[in-house]
Amino acid sequence: MVEISTSILSIKKGEESKTFFELERAKTDYFHIDVMDGKFVEKNTYKKMQEYASYIKRISNLPLDVHLMVQNIDEAIEDFLAVEPNIITFHYEACKNKEEVMKFIKKIKENNCKVGLSVKPETDIEEIYEFLPYIHMCLVMTVEPGKGGQTLLSDMVNKIEKLKKYIDENNIDIDIEADGGINLRTAKEVKEAGANILVSGTAILMAKDYKVIIDELKQ
Ligand code: DX5
Ligand code: ZN
Repeated sequence: MVEISTSILSIKKGEESKTFFELERAKTDYFHIDVMDGKFVEKNTYKKMQEYASYIKRISNLPLDVHLMVQNIDEAIEDFLAVEPNIITFHYEACKNKEEVMKFIKKIKENNCKVGLSVKPETDIEEIYEFLPYIHMCLVMTVEPGKGGQTLLSDMVNKIEKLKKYIDENNIDIDIEADGGINLRTAKEVKEAGANILVSGTAILMAKDYKVIIDELKQ
């Protein structure tokens, strides 16, 4: 069964708590927290996402799916462990070397949190094969990280297919999360390719009824 992680990046100002309650009622599986530091990507959502995440933690038991688009991964892991997320995902491209990737994987796991590794569109998926046995989820960016409302890059579907084939052939049991430009049309493609967690922001937040769109994305 596919799970839905709703990105709160493009949430309407002034309607945050109403939206969080409605998303909980609509049974999103996760809240996707897009942390941006203004260095790894242009926008800076760091403080806002800290506030939102701690608010959600107070009003909801739904798990937090934290996506770090930051350069200083060590500091961000510390900051976001504080909101007791279900999973923290960081970017392969923000790591200096393999040792650093393993260091962050270990740090997150040592704090009883699941760990994800994310790759940007231009990164070949083979580059992260060696880390797959140590992580819980691979987040395949299906848009350029940095903002919501973009169109899914269609060759990312083949990338998901390739990853799915590799994990099946090697009996690696991890989740594949597709993130960016996911709507009713593109959800079908990425699900067929092998993604089992779909991040969606704009398509859900602009819908009249969150439950209807979330249920349809899950089909
Ligand atoms: C982009 C973020 C995505 C994005 C998804 O950098 O990682 O999670 O907010 O939003 P939509 O669904 O609008 O592409
Ligand atoms: Zn994201």
